[in-house]
Amino acid sequence: MCGIIGYTGFRKASDVILRGLKTLEYRGYDSAGIAVSGPKGLEIRKGAGKVAEVSESLLFSSLEGNAGIGHTRWATHGKVCNENAHPHANCSKSIALVHNGVIENYLSIKEALSAEGHKFESETDSEVVAHLIEENMKNMPIERAFQESIKALKGSYAIVMAARGENRIFAARKNSPLIAGIGKGEFILASDITAALPYTKKIVPVDEERIVIASEKEIAFYDYSGKEANPNYMEVDWTAETAEKGGFPHFMLKEIYEQKLALPESLAADVKDANALIEKAKNIHIIACGTSYHAGLVLSILLEKQTGKFAKAFIASEYPFIANPEKGTLALAISQSGETADTMQAARFAKAAGAKLLALTNVVGSSLSRLADSTVYLNAGPEVSVAATKTFSSQLALAYRLAYGSEPWAKEIPRAVEKALAQEQSVKSLSSRFKDANDVFFIGRGLSYPIAMEGALKLKELSYIHAEAYPGGELKHGPLSLIQPGTLVVALAPSDESLPKMHGNIKEVKARGAFVIALTDNPEITKEVDFALHVEKSRPELYPFAMLPLLQMLAYYASTSRGIDPDRPRNLAKSVTVE
Ligand code: F6R
Repeated sequence: MCGIIGYTGFRKASDVILRGLKTLEYRGYDSAGIAVSGPKGLEIRKGAGKVAEVSESLLFSSLEGNAGIGHTRWATHGKVCNENAHPHANCSKSIALVHNGVIENYLSIKEALSAEGHKFESETDSEVVAHLIEENMKNMPIERAFQESIKALKGSYAIVMAARGENRIFAARKNSPLIAGIGKGEFILASDITAALPYTKKIVPVDEERIVIASEKEIAFYDYSGKEANPNYMEVDWTAETAEKGGFPHFMLKEIYEQKLALPESLAADVKDANALIEKAKNIHIIACGTSYHAGLVLSILLEKQTGKFAKAFIASEYPFIANPEKGTLALAISQSGETADTMQAARFAKAAGAKLLALTNVVGSSLSRLADSTVYLNAGPEVSVAATKTFSSQLALAYRLAYGSEPWAKEIPRAVEKALAQEQSVKSLSSRFKDANDVFFIGRGLSYPIAMEGALKLKELSYIHAEAYPGGELKHGPLSLIQPGTLVVALAPSDESLPKMHGNIKEVKARGAFVIALTDNPEITKEVDFALHVEKSRPELYPFAMLPLLQMLAYYASTSRGIDPDRPRNLAKSVTVE
C-alpha cells in the first residue's frame, strides 16, 4: 500500500532513499520516485515502473543533497502513469511530498484550491496536500503551514515532505504506518523498520496524529495542537541482512527456508498474559484477513477443542457486519504486519463494544499492538515477500502455544518443517504440471482444511491459476461437477482421524479422471494417486507443519514456471492499509 521514506543527515540522501525504496518495494511496485533538496534546489524524478527500472532510467543516484524523500506506489487514486507517481509538488515546485493512505476529503480541498488558481498535474488525492501547504504558506512559516494543512485532512495518511533550501524533512501520521529511525546525525522516516535497519536499530513507532520535524541535528514530535510530544524509543534486534535475499533467487524462497529458524523463536514466545485473557473470556472472536485468517481458523478449532469456549474466526472486513462482540468477549486479532486496515477497524469495533483485545503480530510497535490490551509477537523476523510464508507457520506455532501450552512434542515442529523442505526438488518437478493449468482444487478435512485453503490462496495469488479449497466432504455437494479428466486436485491426506474419509474423496475424484497430487504418509494412497509428496509420519498435531512448506513451494514453483516474479504478484501489496 505504498512505501514512503524520508532521510536527512550526513549521507547522500539519494543513496539512502534508493536502498530504502528497494526494501519497501513489497508495499507497492507500480511507480517510484524521489525528491532531493540539495545544491541545485529541489529536484524531483519519478515514473511508472519498478524501483530499479525507474531509478536506472531517471538516474536517481545522480541527485546530490542530504535531505530527501522517496516513494514506491500501489495505486489507489488514479491510474498507473508518470503523472500519478509520487513525489507530488506544489505549483512553484518548492515543496514535494510522498503519501501512503487515502485522503477522503481531497475533492472538496481540490475544488477550493482550484478556485484559488492552483493547477494540478495528477489525478491523485496526495497532490492536493502539497498545494494546500503552499496555500497556507502564503500566511505562515512552513512548519505551521504543514501542521495546519495536516489538520484539515480526513482519511488515512503517512506523509513525508522535503522543501527547497531545507535540510529539514516534515512528516505526519494518521492511520497509516510510519516509523522514525534515530541515527547519530541522521534520521530516517519510513513506512517500516526494515528501511532504517542499515543505519540504526533505535526506532520510534510514530504515534497516531503526530507531526515530526527532523533536521540532520535533531528530531521532534508534536501533537496536532503543536505541543511537543514524548516519543516511545525502542531497540529492535532485526538485522539488515535478515531483510536481504542472502543468496536465494527470491525473498519468498528464503522466507520458506527461514521457517525452521523462526519457529523455535515463535514457540518460545511469552503467552502468560494472553492465556490469562483467554481464561477470563466468555467467548473468543478471532479476526484476521487472508493468510492470517487461515491461521485464525486453525486457532479457532484448537481453542474450542481445548478450552470448551465458543471460539470463531471472522474475516476482519466482514466482522462489523456480522458479529456481536460484548463485554466478556476476547477479540483476538491476528496480523503479520499489525497494520491491516480491515483488521484494525474490526479490532476497534470489538473494543468499542467492550471486548478485550489480544494481538498476534510480527511487528513491534505496530498499530495493532498499540491498540491491544496485550500482544504476543511472532518473532519471525522481517518478512519481505508479498506472500506470507514464515509468518503463517509462526502464527500456527503461536496458535499451538495458546491452545496446548508447552507440550514437549512442540519441539518437533521445526523438524517437521525441515523434513518437508528436503523435498524441494520433488515439488519443483511438479511445476510443469501447473504451467498450463487453469483450475486446481485443494481438499482436506479437519485441521488440514485451513491448510488446504492456504495452499489454494498461495497458488492463486502467485501463479494466477484459479484455485479453490474444499473440505473433502463438500465435493459431492456441488464442486464435483467441475472435476474432469486431467483436472488437478491436491489432496491433504495425512494419517490422522480424517484419513479414511479423505481416502474416499481421493477415490471419488480419481474415478472422474482427476490428476491427483496427494500429501500423505499413507502407503496405499501413495500408490493410488498420480503423484505423492511424502509427509513424515508423526503425531496428528504436527501434520499441518509437515504439509505447509510443500504447498508453499508448490505455489512458488508454479509461479516461477509461468515466468512470474513470486515476490511481486500483480495487483497486490504486502501491508494492506486501505479498507
Ligand atoms: C497472502 C497474504 C495476505 C495477508 C493479508 C493480511 O499471502 O499475505 O493474505 O495475510 O493481507 O495481512 P496481515 O497478516 O499483515 O494482516
